[in-house]
Amino acid sequence: MQIEDRVFIVTGASSGIGLATAIALAGRGAKVALLARSTAALDHLAGRLPGSLPVTVDMTRFDRVREAVAAVARHYGRIHGLVNNAGRSYAASVEDIDPAVFDEIFHLNVLGPIVAMQAVIPLMRAQGGGSIVNINSGTAFMTVPQYSVYSSSKRALVGFSLTARAELEKDRIVVSEIYPDVTATNFGKNRMRNAAGGSGPSANYAAGEKPEVVAAFVLQAIEEGQAQYFATDRIRKLAGAA
Ligand SMILES: NC(=O)c1ccc[n+]([C@@H]2O[C@H](COP(=O)([O-])OP(=O)(O)OC[C@H]3O[C@@H](n4cnc5c(N)ncnc54)[C@H](OP(=O)(O)O)[C@@H]3O)[C@@H](O)[C@H]2O)c1
Repeated sequence: MQIEDRVFIVTGASSGIGLATAIALAGRGAKVALLARSTAALDHLAGRLPGSLPVTVDMTRFDRVREAVAAVARHYGRIHGLVNNAGRSYAASVEDIDPAVFDEIFHLNVLGPIVAMQAVIPLMRAQGGGSIVNINSGTAFMTVPQYSVYSSSKRALVGFSLTARAELEKDRIVVSEIYPDVTATNFGKNRMRNAAGGSGPSANYAAGEKPEVVAAFVLQAIEEGQAQYFATDRIRKLAGAA
């Protein structure tokens, strides 16, 4: 799909991969609706990106997600693309998983993207098509102690994304997924932990890929529309992809 002059929603646009994606899309002449909880960061970014729209929303509050998508549609009159990027991780052994945190992670990483897709699909169908890009994770293909909740949420997202892709093909709505490797963002700092628990193992995020590398895959996915994009050969091999 073309990027210039098209309208995109980017969730989690206040930081990291979402921020880099919003900047990259705007740099290619798109109009970008910037969604996240941090109003000040979104307002600051909107000041840098002409034609963008900051929308404060918690992606775990589904009525608010629907309202946010409706507000974007009212503002621009159309929505061509959705980048489901907002997400967090959680470090806890299976023995110590807190069901409330499990719930929050699955609300944010799985149900939030599904509800956002449900909100844009009828609009895209009426317009004759669209592009949905879900930011997944290489951990969907890994077994990492203390990351069962996060990796399971991303594995679930693989299934929903691939199924939605098959279901929506007839409507010319293309669903793609990006699988980042370790990326240099605030992701490690923002991961959830049990109140009494230790910090768990940590990847060296600072040494990871730049978020702009992942953003470039998002733009490639929008333009090409393949099902899956692996950020590194390591992730491609773990996924067993050709
Ligand atoms: N960094 C990595 O190594 C890595 C690797 C693989 C996959 N990923 C995936 O990449 C995506 C982006 O992560 P990142 O690395 O860019 O991390 P990040 O810098 O921590 O950014 C996360 C974004 O999600 C937003 N967010 C968090 N909770 C939210 C909520 N309840 N409602 C709305 N927005 C919320 C945050 O904004 P607010 O706090 O303002 O709400 C922020 O904009 C995630 O889906 C993550 O799973 C990251």
